[in-house]
Amino acid sequence: MFYKALMRPWLFQTDPEAAHERALTLAASLGRCRITRDAVETAFAFEDRRLRQTVFGIEFPNPVGLAAGYDKNAIGLELWPALGFGFAEIGSVTLCSQPGTKPPRIFRQVGQRSLINCMGFHNDGAEAIAARIPPQPHLIPVGVNVGKNNDVDLAHAGENYAATIDKFRDRADFFVINVSSPSTPGLRKLQDKEMLDELLGRVAGLRTTAPVLLKIAPDLTFDQIDDAVGLVERHKLAGVVATNTTLDHSTPTWGGLSGAPLRARATECVRHIRRQTRGRLPIVGVGGIFTAEDAYEKIRAGACLVEVWTGMIYEGPFIVHNINHGLLRLLARDGFGSMADAVGTE
Ligand SMILES: Cc1cc2nc3c(=O)[nH]c(=O)nc-3n(C[C@H](O)[C@H](O)[C@H](O)COP(=O)(O)O)c2cc1C
Repeated sequence: MFYKALMRPWLFQTDPEAAHERALTLAASLGRCRITRDAVETAFAFEDRRLRQTVFGIEFPNPVGLAAGYDKNAIGLELWPALGFGFAEIGSVTLCSQPGTKPPRIFRQVGQRSLINCMGFHNDGAEAIAARIPPQPHLIPVGVNVGKNNDVDLAHAGENYAATIDKFRDRADFFVINVSSPSTPGLRKLQDKEMLDELLGRVAGLRTTAPVLLKIAPDLTFDQIDDAVGLVERHKLAGVVATNTTLDHSTPTWGGLSGAPLRARATECVRHIRRQTRGRLPIVGVGGIFTAEDAYEKIRAGACLVEVWTGMIYEGPFIVHNINHGLLRLLARDGFGSMADAVGTE
């Protein structure tokens, strides 16, 4: 209520990226001070054993995570558990820092509850970001989403990803290989079968013990998804994040669309992967989640974990509490004893 009535109108008067920077700066300062962090935790955090799950060997206190791109530089890490998140994916991180696309590069479409962005992986670089992540164990699992530097050609992408992952040894609880952001020229080509085979082979050969997942675009055909998922299984990766933003929109603005219009397609991708792998492969469902019902739809379709980004902008930080609370209500309504029991039961 407070967010929608007061905070959102104030934030929405500002350029979307500036508003986001403001929100992140606030998150970082609230998280740094023990008193404010505890106060946030009292108001927002939520615990219930029915929401706990062990997925790819990691224990998650609840299934709702912060999606990649929200906290690219890991500056709000201390606040995310207090807000009630069950995990946080930071990044996309590239080996070297880079400025990204020239602003403006985030656009709101308020009527559709969506965003379009073409950020181009602006971030502080792997070394600086790794230094901000405390050593393990973390309060909640911290995933590091890895992208490719713009000036690295596709033939050398594997080395670039591998070197970035190396910087997060002993810091990341899991990694996500991002080959699906639309605003890095050529990046999505890494989803082509041969290139992906080479890239995943390279990553799988690293001596990291942390699980590695692949994040895919919603614009792949089901055949292309099958190829990608086949390679994930062949190289013994831990799972798939479905999905990134979509290029399938009629808006003249260039960039990837997120939020409500992406919801159904992202769920379809989750459902398809679940069906093809017969539940063998853990899936993180992301795209257009604003409510517990949206999250539950992805869980019933096959996602063990879900993530939010655009929903945080439109619904505010209470979204995490609302989703977790609502999930318990939906589990009870349908007679499930725990989250894990509901996964893929559509
Ligand atoms: C402004 C913005 C920046 C993003 N940056 C990244 C990124 O750096 N890496 C990535 O894998 N996904 C990125 N995403 C995609 C989100 O992680 C998520 O997959 C997508 O937005 C769909 O979820 P949503 O509908 O809840 O926003 C970004 C999304 C937005 C809106």
